[in-house]
Amino acid sequence: MHAHMVGETLQIGLAGLGTVGSGVYEALLRNRDLLEARAQISYEVRRVAVRDRKRERSVAVDEALLTEDWRDLVGDEKIDIIIELIGGTTEAYELVRAALENGKPVVTGNKALLAEYGGALFHLSQQKGAPLYFEASCGGGIPIVQCLQNSLICNNVSAIVGIINGTSNYILTAMDKEGLPFREALKQAQQLGYAEPDPSLDINGWDAAHKGLILAMLAYGTPLNPRAVSVTGIEHIEPVDFNFARQLGYTIRLLVVIRYHESLNALELRVQPSFVPQQHLLSKVAGVFNAIAVRGDIVGETIFYGRGAGKNPTSSAVVGDVVLAMRECRLPGYHTGFRPYAEGVEVMSASDTETSCYVRFRVKDCHGVIAAIAMAFSQHDIGISATSSADGEHRETEGWNHLVFMLHTCRWGQLQEALNDIRKIPTVVGEPVVLRIETFQAI
Ligand code: HSE
Repeated sequence: MHAHMVGETLQIGLAGLGTVGSGVYEALLRNRDLLEARAQISYEVRRVAVRDRKRERSVAVDEALLTEDWRDLVGDEKIDIIIELIGGTTEAYELVRAALENGKPVVTGNKALLAEYGGALFHLSQQKGAPLYFEASCGGGIPIVQCLQNSLICNNVSAIVGIINGTSNYILTAMDKEGLPFREALKQAQQLGYAEPDPSLDINGWDAAHKGLILAMLAYGTPLNPRAVSVTGIEHIEPVDFNFARQLGYTIRLLVVIRYHESLNALELRVQPSFVPQQHLLSKVAGVFNAIAVRGDIVGETIFYGRGAGKNPTSSAVVGDVVLAMRECRLPGYHTGFRPYAEGVEVMSASDTETSCYVRFRVKDCHGVIAAIAMAFSQHDIGISATSSADGEHRETEGWNHLVFMLHTCRWGQLQEALNDIRKIPTVVGEPVVLRIETFQAI
């Protein structure tokens, strides 16, 4: 990376002109005067790599800028900064590697890439002195990456709890407030451009897990193995769970929970739909909005809130990084991109983590079923704080019912053993729905 003179026009190579790529291109043009005045920098988009240059697009880009080969960007000596927005982890990995190898700063929003290959890419970034910026990879327009890296730098972070997938939050909110069926709510989220091209990542919790890995990396100083995260999605939640949650004083949100246990020197790192108390701020986060609560030993509690998905909020984060990259281009040998500083942070196995839980069983409506389930919990030393069953319009078809147990705090592994016994009770049918209950005592 060579130093740039004040007054020089910096050259940008943009790879990807999909939803976010076109938003970034538009924002760079639309707010050029503002950006140039604020950052005292002038810039041009020099090349744009697309998969198919003939494709019709919503954004007007000069034909002469287009190429179908991203190598034209990373190999162009005149290009100072690369923006990677092609998505996926195969070609994007090659692209980012090649750019860093050539000493070019890279701006990316690719959370799956960082979750999977963060270790190798940050190592290369360090070796080449070429920064990798990734504000858009987590929380859409919320500037959480910069905050964890800079504004909150003096804190030992004890916990991060967040709603960081807009699509699943949109779906859960629509199921709760409008009573929409799951598929209908998902279709709406896709039409609004929130969902990933493969929406299963939004629904099965892995999009949130990728972002959680990025937050944990920033808070604890090292990339973590994605296989260490315990992940459950929202596919199995039914409208009846919202009815029970409401009656019991909660709502349901897909949460990422990152908690440092000092006594064990280990991290709890999990993603799952959870009961959130109705009085907690996170329960108010609706639709595509995200919120991330961070607790640090000096700052105390903070909550960051904003649009976690969509073209413009994500573009705002990307352009923020582009301006940072442009500013830092001028400082030879210095940048504020992430550098791993810790090694070997241990992640707890899910079965050793502890919470209270909500468990819903579908049962044959007959004598003794509550007693049989309660007995199994008791045999595994798990206390019950309340039970409930559906009535009126929420009741199952004749002869069947939903039975809910609110459990005292227990180990996840202990609960799984109890559930294995309960599955053997003939009047319990199908898979139980298990949701953790988050108390937020430490946040
Ligand atoms: N599909 C993601 C979401 C988009 O719904 O949050 C932003 O990563």
